[in-house]
Amino acid sequence: MSVEKQRYLITAALPYANGPIHIGHLAGCHLPADIYARFRRMQGHEVAFICGTDEHGVPITIAARKEHTTPQAVADKYHEIIDKALYQFGISFDNFSRTTSEVHKQTASEFFTNLYDKGLFIEKEEEQFYDAEQNMFLADRYIMGTCPKCGNERAYGDQCEKCGSTLNPRDLINPRSTISDKPLVLKKTKHWYIPLNEYEPWLKEWILEGHKKDWKTNVYGQCKSWIDAGLQPRAVTRDLNWGVPVPLPDAEGKVLYVWFDAPIGYISATKELTPDWKKFWCDEKTHLVHFLGKDNIVFHCIIFPTMLKMHGDFILPENVPANEFLNLEGDKISTSRNWAVWLHEYLLEFPEQQDVLRYVLAANAPETKDNDFTWKDFQDRTNSELVAILGNFFNRTIVLTQKFCGSKVPKRHPELETEKEKNLWLELDQIRVKIEEAMSQYRLREALSEVMNAARLGNKYLTELEPWKKAKGDVYVGETDFEQLQNKYLVENCLHNCVQLSANLAILMYPFMPFTAKKILLHFNIDKRANELLKWEHLGRTDLLKIGYTIHNPVLLFRKIEDEEIAKQLEKLQVSKAAMQAAQVATPSIAPIKAEISFDQFSQLDRRIGTITAAQKVAKADKLLQLTVDIGLEQRTIVSGIALHYTAEEVIGKQVTVLCNLAPRKMKGIESQGMILMADDANGKPQFISANKLVSNGQAIS
Ligand code: MF3
Ligand code: ZN
Repeated sequence: MSVEKQRYLITAALPYANGPIHIGHLAGCHLPADIYARFRRMQGHEVAFICGTDEHGVPITIAARKEHTTPQAVADKYHEIIDKALYQFGISFDNFSRTTSEVHKQTASEFFTNLYDKGLFIEKEEEQFYDAEQNMFLADRYIMGTCPKCGNERAYGDQCEKCGSTLNPRDLINPRSTISDKPLVLKKTKHWYIPLNEYEPWLKEWILEGHKKDWKTNVYGQCKSWIDAGLQPRAVTRDLNWGVPVPLPDAEGKVLYVWFDAPIGYISATKELTPDWKKFWCDEKTHLVHFLGKDNIVFHCIIFPTMLKMHGDFILPENVPANEFLNLEGDKISTSRNWAVWLHEYLLEFPEQQDVLRYVLAANAPETKDNDFTWKDFQDRTNSELVAILGNFFNRTIVLTQKFCGSKVPKRHPELETEKEKNLWLELDQIRVKIEEAMSQYRLREALSEVMNAARLGNKYLTELEPWKKAKGDVYVGETDFEQLQNKYLVENCLHNCVQLSANLAILMYPFMPFTAKKILLHFNIDKRANELLKWEHLGRTDLLKIGYTIHNPVLLFRKIEDEEIAKQLEKLQVSKAAMQAAQVATPSIAPIKAEISFDQFSQLDRRIGTITAAQKVAKADKLLQLTVDIGLEQRTIVSGIALHYTAEEVIGKQVTVLCNLAPRKMKGIESQGMILMADDANGKPQFISANKLVSNGQAIS
């Protein structure tokens, strides 16, 4: 059963040090990485498990500006909070570093120089948007303007959130800075690009052909669509005063792009861990596995590997088991909207319940699709799985051992063992095999469900053997001494097996629930040899606990989660929601005044009061309602984009303002003969502009 010793380099994506971390980070990345790392260590492999905080990039500089402090101070603060939270949840990094460390700056700098010296970069001078007031070039996210597609005046330089179009800052009409709110100018600047396009054939071969079978479908699919869309050169430098300086003489005020420096952080953190770091990064035999969330796939599968390939000294990832997203109570987790369960807050509300959250998040991990965390599910899984199955088996074992065997590990009587015992251990062995298979294919949820099945085996065994029926008080049941002795031996056999199975369960659960595994061992009085015992190769052994060994009095492994506790958490989320809505009301977005027009131009607009007399949804268009509007003189058909906010039924009878002389246009095959004028309320919902029915249909607005 012994496994050949291998070497693993396991990484978990570096969280940005601009906020604390929440269950989404844990479920998507750090927990699966930890489970995998613990599992490989238990198998006796050599493991380096690497992470740290990603401390560069624009958002940290913006956070610093808002908090009237320096980016370094922001990074220091959140590095500590994140480090502590992950540690408290038992994430067993071998090194948790940071990208502002000296070793990292040097490593990233040398990496850049290496590619530069080989002449592998493209050097390009281009015009980019510049905020003259702030003296800075702006990243796409910090440029705002009018969307050329839908007219939304608050579209970002990379995307319009109203119509969903992907944009370039140059597409925006009237681009302005989100930082100073001033118009932007174009200014020339030089940057260095990696020619991703040149590596396309290699990427096709390496990923599309080489990893079709072993990479997860979601990961492979994302890579494929990137590669199929055609790869473009990508800038790896930025104009910014926060980051690793570009190590060239003519690069004043320029730093390495955060996505260039951050993954190199994995290398720096390994260097910090051991002087022998090259065996992890430069030996083809090492298994390099990156854990991350789906928004990071392209960086870890395409860009970073291309960087590694260009450099040439390093191995490539063997697998990138990225997860999808975890939502919270049906909504996307959001730091800015405070729609999250923060790790540090969870521990204040549920002290010492790390494993409960680890269990729920691993059992419901978004491995193949986005999943939802709900407090109700948290409660259900805790009460009906952890408490009722796993906790129950352990508790019954200990209580019965106390009652029948004086709290000592009972003797085994092989001559009285039956098929039941044989099957118990046989089935446990099958579970072990299933877990090994699932883990090697990164199906961690499945592996965890097998751990639970092992506890179910125990419960079934106890229920079938019913040791409690074999004694009344202190006296074993039986007509004769012989029968009584036989019952005593049967009870001892049963509990011997249950106790040994419990120790086996501790091994099985250790990757997932390390705190509970240790608690079990502490209970069995073997906390001192815990690390020696928690080895995968010990699975199936029926002599893990020595006969006669004293077991501590019963304690509960898990406690029930009460309805009130759940209600309290839900309430807390409602407060976030309400605060968010209040904030929106307080700062409604008001569009700037448009360019001046003449009175003539004004008088050309024919606006009148009308009433909606009929309405229906437009087929195959989510947003459109087809309205019939009485404008006094006639009935008009008008197609209006309000269906996301109003049903057909509720708009009938509404008085509205109509622009009547707008040139007719066809929408979804229907001719729209005018436009309903509306104004957004504080929640962004369009409201009709009416005259409170004091004015009759057809009256002009002048
Ligand atoms: N900070 C990034 C994020 O949170 C992840 C960086 S992963 C690394 O999305 F590879 F760049 F380190
Ligand atoms: Zn738009």
